Amino acid sequence: MTGQYEFHLTTRIIYSTNSSTKIGEIASGFGKKKYQFITDTGVAGAGVLDCLLEPLKSAGIDTVLFDKVEVNPTVQTVDKACEQYNSEGCEGVIAVGGGSPMDTGKSVGVLATNPGSASDYLGPDNWGKIKNPSVPVICVPTTAGTAAEITDVAVLSDPERKVKLGIFSPYIVPAVALLDPLLTISLPPEPTRDSGLDALCHAIESYLSINSWCASEALTLKAIELAGRHLRTAVHNGQNVEARDGMLMASLLAGMGFRNTKLCLVHAITGPIGGLYNCPHGAINAIVLPHAMRFMLPGAVSKYRNIAIALGENVEDLSERTAAERAIKAVEQLSEDIGLPKGLSVYGVKEQGLEKLSETIAGNFQNALSPRKASPKEILDIFKAAL
Ligand SMILES: [Fe+2]
Repeated sequence: MTGQYEFHLTTRIIYSTNSSTKIGEIASGFGKKKYQFITDTGVAGAGVLDCLLEPLKSAGIDTVLFDKVEVNPTVQTVDKACEQYNSEGCEGVIAVGGGSPMDTGKSVGVLATNPGSASDYLGPDNWGKIKNPSVPVICVPTTAGTAAEITDVAVLSDPERKVKLGIFSPYIVPAVALLDPLLTISLPPEPTRDSGLDALCHAIESYLSINSWCASEALTLKAIELAGRHLRTAVHNGQNVEARDGMLMASLLAGMGFRNTKLCLVHAITGPIGGLYNCPHGAINAIVLPHAMRFMLPGAVSKYRNIAIALGENVEDLSERTAAERAIKAVEQLSEDIGLPKGLSVYGVKEQGLEKLSETIAGNFQNALSPRKASPKEILDIFKAAL
């Protein structure tokens, strides 16, 4: 094997059922007494918070609640959270929920030690602008999909510029990821489906990425297997702890992979759509996924065969090419079994403007990481097939 490889994972990962009971000792381990507790109203209403606030109180930790995080959080929301963080004299952040509260919490963590507002750091052009390490940020996911608890990016929307971009920095990586499958039990079927499919996309894109290598591939192929085995049950029988455990682990392993390889064609295509139409990230990824996979297949035939096997397809006696196509069929079947809408138009995406958008997407770094790079015309064809 030849090549140059790097692997980054600075977050301390704590994973077990009931691990949430340890949050008090983890928070006090940083020598801090007052944390901003960032979440959204959905999580606050689902009764998850008591499991975390009780042990924090017992450990003598003060918390200030910020529960105003919306789906696809904006730079303005982050700035508001920062104002509260500063005026209340907080010393660290505990972010609880899906990707939105975690990305908000991670952003507050770096803005607490760096000047300016969230929009000053948004987008890949601002890479390197964050000079100071974050305050302690503890992330507690209540969905299984984004892996925001371990990644080096926080994705935010800027409604004024109509864009959805990331704050990228090695300093934005959370200090601790506290994962407890029991906290995902109350997540309703639709967000379970969408976040789970996001995890599957992460795993497949990272596995296919030209940046992948044997360490990342071991993680992401296992994540694909776990998602294939557990996502249907997690959606249709959310009380099943084994399925919730399998999906939370799938999300984490996929994140460990794509934190290092980055993603490729699917997220390159859906990123701008999410910014324009404010639609559910995981759902639109999964709608685009089989079409993008069909396009990329010639660039990674043997990997597709492995994906098919990981998803439970019997490929014995099939040619490598036919076996590879089974991976796409398995992904489509999984999405159908859990009720994913068939086209992007369900979320209001219109054909108008896609030609121009395809040109922008073709220049995205994630397209360049795909096993087969797409031209603007080929991206437009994928869009049309996915509409
Ligand atoms: Fe994603």
